[in-house]
Amino acid sequence: MKVYIATDHAGFSIKEFVKELFLKRGYVVEDLGPDSANRVDYPDFAKKVATKVAQNPGSQGVLICGTGIGMSIAANKIKGIRAAEVHDYYTAKMARAHNDANILCFGERVVGKGEIESIVEAWCETKFEGGRHENRVKKIMALEE
Ligand code: RB5
Repeated sequence: MKVYIATDHAGFSIKEFVKELFLKRGYVVEDLGPDSANRVDYPDFAKKVATKVAQNPGSQGVLICGTGIGMSIAANKIKGIRAAEVHDYYTAKMARAHNDANILCFGERVVGKGEIESIVEAWCETKFEGGRHENRVKKIMALEE
């Protein structure tokens, strides 16, 4: 599984920690920046990850900013993207199980390292349930037309 990751300055310091969590689960991780904690604009990095995920079916993305909110709003502007801003194990699990989210967003200023471990565990171990959720996700995607 390929995962693209990016942050803004407010998510930068946790990026290597999060990359390791995916690497140790066998994911191939591509870091799309930034390379330093210098101030940047989160929509630029949301666009980079969302575009890659949209172009590479089956891949996933991770976007981290201060809250996760700006990243998710921006990523969801790209066709084919279902970016979910999560807070904990349960919301990360539901984002995959019910919404078939393809980009995980959270805030470094909101969740600590322990919670991030739980979030990544839920994200990686949960598959889309399909069934009654299939048609709902199709309806979400139809809103793009
Ligand atoms: C940056 O200060 C902050 O606004 C950004 O990281 C993010 O939280 C926006 O949603």
